[in-house]
This record gives sequence, structure tokens and C-alpha cells, in this order.
Amino acid sequence: MHVKPKGFTYTKADLIYISHYVDGHWDEGRLESSDELTISGLSTSLHYAQECFEGLKAYRRKDGKIQLFRVIDNAKRFQMSANYLMMPEVPIDHFIKAVKQVVKANEAYVPDYGPKDSLYIRPFMIGVGHNLGLRPAPKYMFIIVVSPVGSYFNGEAKPVDLLVSPYDRAAHKGTGHVKVGGNYAASLHAQMRAVKAGYADCLFLDPLTHTKIEELGAANFFGITKDNKYVTPNSPSILDSITNRSLKTLASDHIGLEVLESDIFINDLNQFTEAGACGTAAVITPIGSITHEGIKHTFPSSSQMGETTKKLYDLLTGIQFGDEKDPYGWITVLD
Ligand SMILES: Cc1ncc(COP(=O)(O)O)c(C=O)c1O
Repeated sequence: MHVKPKGFTYTKADLIYISHYVDGHWDEGRLESSDELTISGLSTSLHYAQECFEGLKAYRRKDGKIQLFRVIDNAKRFQMSANYLMMPEVPIDHFIKAVKQVVKANEAYVPDYGPKDSLYIRPFMIGVGHNLGLRPAPKYMFIIVVSPVGSYFNGEAKPVDLLVSPYDRAAHKGTGHVKVGGNYAASLHAQMRAVKAGYADCLFLDPLTHTKIEELGAANFFGITKDNKYVTPNSPSILDSITNRSLKTLASDHIGLEVLESDIFINDLNQFTEAGACGTAAVITPIGSITHEGIKHTFPSSSQMGETTKKLYDLLTGIQFGDEKDPYGWITVLD
């Protein structure tokens, strides 16, 4: 029995993984069937957003085997996020072992081989126990929930329309570079404003000057220039996307693009023939237009995925689903 997911929505699988941190140590963790938690109402995660998370996927290959993409990079970024929020690190081996264990236990929920469907894996850590004053929690829980998923944005990989947000998701030297719940709560207002106005999502600008592109609420931004450069923003307040890191490598090694991490001014979109949003959930979603202060900029490739974006998409998903060779050591096959 393999489940057919409906877009990026939650379908409960059989088991979740839970590990507890008490008195300076993580326990081994165990699998539980309920996805409901019982914690103190005074937990720091509930009041002070002492929570961090990750997102990665398990892919079913043509031969039926299941594989993970760059799990070690998620484990490292999870440590960075935990450190920033004064939470204990989950050792890399513990993280990877737990991810493998929970995916194996929910094997039946990994969708059949196909270009869009996969098992989304959501590891997260919460501060628990009672704290009234503002200080780190006395105890923590490391939990992993999984769900079969399809595409993040509705429909096929059709270009989406974005609305520039007048609000910020993270401060210049704040928490934008780590994957912590507070960033996402702060982005909801702008996101829903864009969705209500008929856009797929919002696009954030840099919090210092509001002139440069940062990222979407859950994906990085990249553009392809007329002279074959892959350009993506360089900023202390955006998340270092593992998908974007992979695309930079593939763009340079396989397509011969020059990769630039630099400022991208919102008033300089004419330089791009193609633009896209990239992330574990979004994979690569082409961007058709960006509306800023009432002016809509439409990219030349606004009705379908552009040629270069398509090449990147095929290379990336080819490696993730096991159809392309992985010379980089990004793949972990489950036994
Ligand atoms: C704010 C933000 N930017 C970018 C990304 C893409 O990161 P990754 O490619 O590691 O999933 C995500 C998704 O995790 C995100 O939440």
C-alpha cells in the first residue's frame, strides 16, 4: 500500500519518533503511534518560540528502494538552529539514525516512484517543562513526524505570481539564517496578505533597506540572467537553503553557468530571463511575475518553466529519485 498524496498536505503515517533531553542527555528515543503531545502549558516553545525544525524528503526510486537527500546537511543546520536558540544539539549520528528509523517504520507511506511525490520528513525540537521567566527550558523534546506529499504550490510546475511584502520576516542580524519557528509566525501576515490578493506567495526584501530581494516564506530565490549567470541573494537574514546549495553546484558543474551570490535589487529584474523559488518543499517552482508597489514585472518565461530552470529541475530531481548519478555523496539509500 503506497499512499497517493494530495498536494502539500498532512496525511498521518503510522509512527512518529520522540526523544527526550533531560539532565544534559538525550535518550535513545522511541516510536509512538499518536502524533499528539502532552507538554506543560508553560513550555518555552509555546510562549517564547524556543523551537527549531528541519524539512527533508525520502524518495522512492524506480527499483522500489528508498533514499534520502543530503540528510547530513539537515542534521548540521539543525545544530546551528538549536545553538542559536540556546537549545542542546542533537548529535549528527543521532539525527540521521532517527530519520532512518522513522522512515523505515513508515515505509508504506513513501509514495510510488514519480516526479512529484515523496515522503516529507519534519524533525523539530521544542523547549518543554515549566518556565515563567524568559530563559532556556529545563528539558527538550526532539520529534520527527512524516507525511506523504505532492507539490507545494498548487498544480504542476507552472510559473507562480509573487507579491513583494512591505513587512519583514526577520531582522538584519536576527534569526533569518536559522530555521526557527518564530521566523515563520512572523511571515504569516505578509503571506496571507499576498494569498488574499490572489498571489501564490509573498517575496521578502532585505530588512535594512527594502531594496534587495531576500527570499520567499519557505524557499530561496534565484534568477538566470541573459548572459547565463545563476544569481541568488547574499544576505545574513536568509536561510542557507540546501536545495539552493545543490543548484549552485549543478548549475556550475553541469550547465556551465557562472554562479553569483550577490545583491539583487528589486528594481533590476530586467536582467533575468528566468526566475525561480527553490527549497525542499517547493523543489524548483518557476516565478512568472513579481509585483512591487503596484507594478508587475513579468519574466519572459512566464507561461512555462524556462529552459535553464528545466535543466536544473531535471538534474536535481534526477539525483533525488535515483535516475541520475550522484557524484557528490548527497544520497543515503535505506537498507
Ligand atoms: C525560509 C526558507 N528559505 C529557504 C528554504 C529552502 O531550504 P531547503 O532547500 O534547505 O529546504 C526553506 C525551506 O526549508 C525556508 O523555510
